[in-house]
Parts: sequence; structure tokens; C-alpha cells
Amino acid sequence: MAVLEIVRLGDPVLRTPADPVEPAQITTAKFQQFCDDLVETVVDAGGLGLAAPQVGAPLQAFVYDANGSTQPEPRWQIVVNPMVDPHPGELEYDWEGCLSIPDLRGLVPRHASLRLRGLDRDGRPLDLVVEDFAARIVQHEFDHLHGVVFLDRMRDLQSLAFEEEWECFVLAEDSDEQSTVG
Ligand code: NI
Repeated sequence: MAVLEIVRLGDPVLRTPADPVEPAQITTAKFQQFCDDLVETVVDAGGLGLAAPQVGAPLQAFVYDANGSTQPEPRWQIVVNPMVDPHPGELEYDWEGCLSIPDLRGLVPRHASLRLRGLDRDGRPLDLVVEDFAARIVQHEFDHLHGVVFLDRMRDLQSLAFEEEWECFVLAEDSDEQSTVG
């Protein structure tokens, strides 16, 4: 296992649509190693999700923290070639940050619930209902596979804040606040 370098905004890989993973490649030692490295990297960085382009790999794969969602295991869910179908309903605003855009937080509207389909790290079909906090992470990571970052999703930039100031002025106001960082 290895902690991979996370690329930052400005690297063209973050603005390039990722390529689908050939299903036959998923079970190869190389891709399995990549999955392990992706998990180790997101844990090391203290994030809740990480998409392959964020470590310089233009592939349709991401990992997200499924803890607290309706899907109990595994905690670090790898999704390959994902498709996301949002459920109807009002968009919800909450705080996000991005490991590729360090130290910034902003309010981002997202769907509260979605259907997530794709393949797991063993190449088996995944078909999950993902809600609330985990749904936000999935939408954030899914966007990374299409060259989109959370700044693009903000309706306006008024809420944009540096992490230190966010902790001082937002978190101090409401200790229940948290931010999704992926
Ligand atoms: Ni991100």
C-alpha cells in the first residue's frame, strides 16, 4: 500500500473527463493495488472521498466513506464506472471542501438521495440507495470523474471561506456543522 500524491486545482487531469475502466482490468493485481492505495490515501488525508483523477489517474473510479449511510459494509466503498440517478426532491445545501482545493469551504446544493450503480472493486455489480451525507460525498466524487469541482456547483461564492476562518466563524456559531471533504 502507498499514499499517493493528491493533485491540486490547475492540474488538467481535474478538468478532463475520466475514461471508463475495462471490467476485465478490475481484478488485476495492478488495479487492486490502486484501490488499496486510493483508500490509504483518503484515510491519510483525512477526507471522506477521493476520485481517481485526484491522484492523477484519468479513470472512472472513486472511493467514499459509506459510514453512516444505509449501506453498512464496507466502510470505504470503491465504485468503478459509476452512474448516479438522483431521486426527486429539493436540493439541500451543506458545506464541502476538496482535497484538491485545500483549505477552502463552501455551501453546495446537492440531491439528498440517489441511486448509485456501477461495479465494486471485485467487478461485481453495485446498486445502492445512498442518502444524506454519503449522497453528498458520492455526488462530489462523481463530479470529479467529469472534470467538475465543488466550486462549479456553488450557486454563489458568498459562503466561500478558508478553513481556519470557517472554523472560527461558522463552526463556532453552530457546533453541529461539519463539512464533506473529498
Ligand atoms: Ni474533491
